[in-house]
Amino acid sequence: MMEEFDLIVKGGTIVTASDIYIADIAILNGKICLMGKDLTCSAKKIVDADGKYVLPGGIDVHTHLDMPFGGTVSSDDFATGTIAAACGGTTTVVDFAIQPKDATLAETTEIWQKKAAGKAAVDYGFHIAITDMKDEIMAEIPAIIEAGYSSFKLFMTYEGYRVTDDTLMKALKITKDHGGLVCVHAENYYVIDYLVKKFKAENKIEPIYHALSRPNLAESEAVNRAIAMAELVDAPLYIVHLSCKESLAELKRARDAGFPIMAETCPQYLFLDEDNYREADFNGAKYVMSPPLRKKDSQEPLWLGLAKGDIQAVATDHCPFFMEGQKEMGREFFAKIPNGAPGIETRMPLLFGRGVRDQKLTLTKLVEVTATNPAKIFGMYPKKGTIAVDSDADLVIFDPEKLQTITKSILHEHVDYTPYEGFELKGYPIMTIAAGKIIAEAGSFVGKAGAGKFIKRSAPMIL
Ligand code: URP
Ligand code: ZN
Ligand code: ZN
Ligand code: ZN
Repeated sequence: MMEEFDLIVKGGTIVTASDIYIADIAILNGKICLMGKDLTCSAKKIVDADGKYVLPGGIDVHTHLDMPFGGTVSSDDFATGTIAAACGGTTTVVDFAIQPKDATLAETTEIWQKKAAGKAAVDYGFHIAITDMKDEIMAEIPAIIEAGYSSFKLFMTYEGYRVTDDTLMKALKITKDHGGLVCVHAENYYVIDYLVKKFKAENKIEPIYHALSRPNLAESEAVNRAIAMAELVDAPLYIVHLSCKESLAELKRARDAGFPIMAETCPQYLFLDEDNYREADFNGAKYVMSPPLRKKDSQEPLWLGLAKGDIQAVATDHCPFFMEGQKEMGREFFAKIPNGAPGIETRMPLLFGRGVRDQKLTLTKLVEVTATNPAKIFGMYPKKGTIAVDSDADLVIFDPEKLQTITKSILHEHVDYTPYEGFELKGYPIMTIAAGKIIAEAGSFVGKAGAGKFIKRSAPMIL
């Protein structure tokens, strides 16, 4: 006798990183159970996806939910942030668990597990951001990888968080020896420190000086240095939020020479630029993040880098702060503006509704950089990141004809602005399905807080 499925998504155009074809998807117990044309089995619910695109749910491998940072706390917690993710077509997040001073890595994982438990509406994992790398901490790395936290982030800048080059090199070595992956925030601390102090002395305090104190070369020099250290210890490396053409050139050089160096960029570096910092009335503070927005001449190289496979992923670096009460802290000095901006809900819509529409990305490439590659690099594939029998039933359905203008009022991010206000899109997510359940529909969240599960991640695939 034919079993009854929980859900069948019928007649949609399925897009994976390699194929586009029409098929039905039958789902049982949170997994894709059967796929084929014109399935006749019965199901508790049928979703008609005729004329729509069905993509693997987005995987955002760079978020900062409920994170103490810059003298305040990012304004989305695991409840609000994952609701926003769901409404924007993202069904898995990998957040950064930041090691508090004097905490062990094991304690760090506990702190972040508590933040997410009972709140997250989509599945989640954690990278461990190591801020205090004593020998005892280094010794914890193998057990942490074993427990499902197979990636780490090290900061080359930020007072209080940054590590020195010898520490980075040791971390690269031990992580590689135990089958994990180091992610690096690459900016030259001393260059930035020098320029920030110089601008302050000259009373140059407005948001534009945030960008001018963190020039492209401050990033690309650090990218080059991190790559050199990875090469020296024969370790893979993942560069987070790569923002400019000079850093891309370093990445390409290393990849062309055969080194296992990977990188993500973020929508803000593809769609926004340095001129945003000049918006009147302190509105430039909305875009204060690190690395900063760049001049427009980095945008085409980054799009091309994605299209050609030099850059493997697009993540958001979602780290929202309210203008009121948070960004405002830096009205008298740009260096006191908390660094970070929202984007968890707009990544998939922007890349589809502008990136694909404007032929910067093909549909299969969109899937590759937002789901398949992130799942592979961070040890979640093929459970996540594709549409196939036995994979998790995490899907996003796009209406390719839907015209939507982004405004703060349609978004669910817990913050008082969006950097993409007024962006006009063609194509928008109309339904998000996670673990076989509809969690967002027609712009509203219809899932459950706490339904998301912790994803124990395995070894990285090197792309
Ligand atoms: O400005 C940013 N990016 N804030 C979040 C922390 C980080 O560096 O990723
Ligand atoms: Zn079956
Ligand atoms: Zn960073
Ligand atoms: Zn970040």
